[in-house]
Amino acid sequence: MHRLMRVLAATDPALAEHGNRTAHLATEVAVRMGMARDYVERIGAAGRYHDIGKLFISREILDKPGPPTKREWVELRRHPRIGFELIRKRVPAPIAKIVLTHHERVDGQGYPGGISGREIPIEARVLQVADAFDAITSQRPYQPALPVAYAVDELKKYAGTQFDPDAVNGILELVEDPRWADAGSGSRLRDGIAV
Ligand SMILES: [Fe+2]
Repeated sequence: MHRLMRVLAATDPALAEHGNRTAHLATEVAVRMGMARDYVERIGAAGRYHDIGKLFISREILDKPGPPTKREWVELRRHPRIGFELIRKRVPAPIAKIVLTHHERVDGQGYPGGISGREIPIEARVLQVADAFDAITSQRPYQPALPVAYAVDELKKYAGTQFDPDAVNGILELVEDPRWADAGSGSRLRDGIAV
């Protein structure tokens, strides 16, 4: 698996960094939620390469400013399954399944399977909130980094539809804890983003 990670880091460093930050944050949330160690470890492993399937999506679509067209959206939505196919022979099955399900939604409106609620592995439900939080609070090609307070509002807004409410509570407890802002979120503080 390390070879794939090296390929990811060399091909798309920003994507690899997003994976590393998401993995780190998601494991912190899982620990905070009192999850058992094997769950936490699976979340960390899956978090690092959850978007690896994007290596096979065209750069043009990934970096496009503004919303994707319908055709581009169909293309983008392929990345969880591509990632799953890429890693399934190389990692334990539960980890591959987290990669496959990281864009499912608890209300069943996600992809690729349209599964809902507890059909989505709890590890994926925890990873999703960390993924969204990092995507919002990090700079992207088409958008500057947004404040933590904005990410908090988005997570609250979609708790129970897109996101698992318990996972939302878990991440909010973490990021709203002043000790986390002081110690854990060093990179965000260095970026000068206020909580
Ligand atoms: Fe993704």
